[in-house]
Amino acid sequence: MNDKTLIIIKPDGVQRRMIGEIIARFEKKGLKITAAKFMQVSPELAQKHYAVHKGKDFFDRIVKYLSCGPVLAMVLEGPKVIEISRKMMGATFGYNAEPGTIRGDFGTSQTFNLIHGSDSPQSAEYEIGLYFKPEEILNYQMPDQTWV
Ligand code: PPS
Repeated sequence: MNDKTLIIIKPDGVQRRMIGEIIARFEKKGLKITAAKFMQVSPELAQKHYAVHKGKDFFDRIVKYLSCGPVLAMVLEGPKVIEISRKMMGATFGYNAEPGTIRGDFGTSQTFNLIHGSDSPQSAEYEIGLYFKPEEILNYQMPDQTWV
């Protein structure tokens, strides 16, 4: 049974023309895209997305950031996809993230960290439901599935 995660290329990733670079990394790793949407996140949706952080001092900042321009939201699937994609993203802040990771290779910022990925199966289920209707998530096989 494949796991699922919600990945978002945030407004800085879009503005810096990094969509292709980031998706290429996930594809080369062997993860499968089962849904994708280029969209503007409303402040209301961003507040729901980050509801668990309501009350923290950075809450307003992350809501404003996620909703400040277009994003690419995706569902990725694969065995251990949450663990794998978070390793590939790197530590939360660019200045801490290891070289070789997305944040480690492409940023130094504390606020603008390019990408979001769900941190648990529970948050993945909640977050995917905010961005995608069930019928927008496609069920299909990749020919190399048994090899990667
Ligand atoms: S926590 O408090 O440990 O649960 O927070 P964390 O899971 O690390 O981060 C939650 C999201 O908030 C962002 N974040 C911040 N943004 C700006 N400034 C500060 N200090 C800060 N701390 C956390 C972080 O990038 C997470 O957003 P996503 O979209 O998941 O990357």
